[in-house]
Amino acid sequence: MRQIEIFDTTLRDGEQSAGVNLHGEEKLEIALQLERLGVDVMEAGFPASSPGDFQAVQRIGNVIRHSTVAALARSNQKDIDAVRDALRGAENPRIHLFLATSPIHMVHKLRMTPEQVIETAVASVKYASAWCSNIEWSAEDATRSDWAFLVEVVEAVIDAGATVVNIPDTVGYTTPQEYGDLLRYLRNRVPNMHRAKLSAHCHDDLGLAVANTLAAIEAGVDQVECTVNGIGERAGNASLEEIAVALEIRSDVLRASTRLDLRQTVATSRLVSHLTGLVVPPNKAVVGANAFAHESGIHQDGVLKHASTYEIIRPELVGLDSNVMVLGKHSGRHAFREKCLALGYQLEDAELNELFRCFKALTEHQKEITDADLHTLVVERSIVR
Ligand code: KIV
Ligand code: ZN
Repeated sequence: MRQIEIFDTTLRDGEQSAGVNLHGEEKLEIALQLERLGVDVMEAGFPASSPGDFQAVQRIGNVIRHSTVAALARSNQKDIDAVRDALRGAENPRIHLFLATSPIHMVHKLRMTPEQVIETAVASVKYASAWCSNIEWSAEDATRSDWAFLVEVVEAVIDAGATVVNIPDTVGYTTPQEYGDLLRYLRNRVPNMHRAKLSAHCHDDLGLAVANTLAAIEAGVDQVECTVNGIGERAGNASLEEIAVALEIRSDVLRASTRLDLRQTVATSRLVSHLTGLVVPPNKAVVGANAFAHESGIHQDGVLKHASTYEIIRPELVGLDSNVMVLGKHSGRHAFREKCLALGYQLEDAELNELFRCFKALTEHQKEITDADLHTLVVERSIVR
């Protein structure tokens, strides 16, 4: 099984979510949890962006020993020097350089010709290679770039010393088929591609970030970039937990695995949600509050007979104790009897029928029936004396 490296960018791209501002202590807490989760690389921040971010990257670099610690820099000497200084104490430092390659960005944002972009990218990689041997280079807005131009620039940065080449879908524009084709095209056309790792980085503007990332894995990338809970600029980045669990559950078709300790998944999600203030939607795959909740009678009956009927992920895999049976208007007698037993009520069939009738009546007015509601029903009906 091929191993995919997980590059987590919760602390850099994730922190670029609107309304999020993590202070140094919080970033360190998340970094330690990411290390527990087992990410291969964590992008700690963008040192040139603010003194606070510089210090946070420095603290993380000084403490984290197992994961590679990366930090972002634009293609200029000031940014590169800031990464060098911030990561001086890091065990495994990586500099992450980027420059846009799409006509839209080159004309309207950079105001540079394609030749100037290649020149600048090469110069930045050479400048960083004076102190760093682990250099990632990203072609910002790669998926709206000319493919032949990408071949040229990627070949040039690898010759200059880049060891990882990242192909971001910066604005979440591509589709799985197209992204896979682009990555295969680069693998086949860039003559020195074998000297660098190939990486995918997807945004979720069209809701395709995870699907695109999985297509990239099928196309043979070595590394995928993602964030916890999929947080990030605009609609966010590809969600780490969805990619990792998809690889675990569908290794039969994806034929790749990660080094993550998936039992840390829910703890990591909760910590990031708590510290960023970004609430995880209840129906979010893998880590949403409803991801392992069963409400309808048919599903509850199936799961109680054999979990695999309606659960493709075991809750224990991601660090939960168990699934949840929610008692609501669709719930059936089987789950209801189990809940009564769990609450300590051993009921005769007639008593159970009577209580079940009252419970159903209550669901006409209430969406969910809690344990406290059930206790009250039992006492009110004087079923247990
Ligand atoms: O989305 C993007 O292009 C980025 C780069 C800085 C890698 O986040
Ligand atoms: Zn990004």
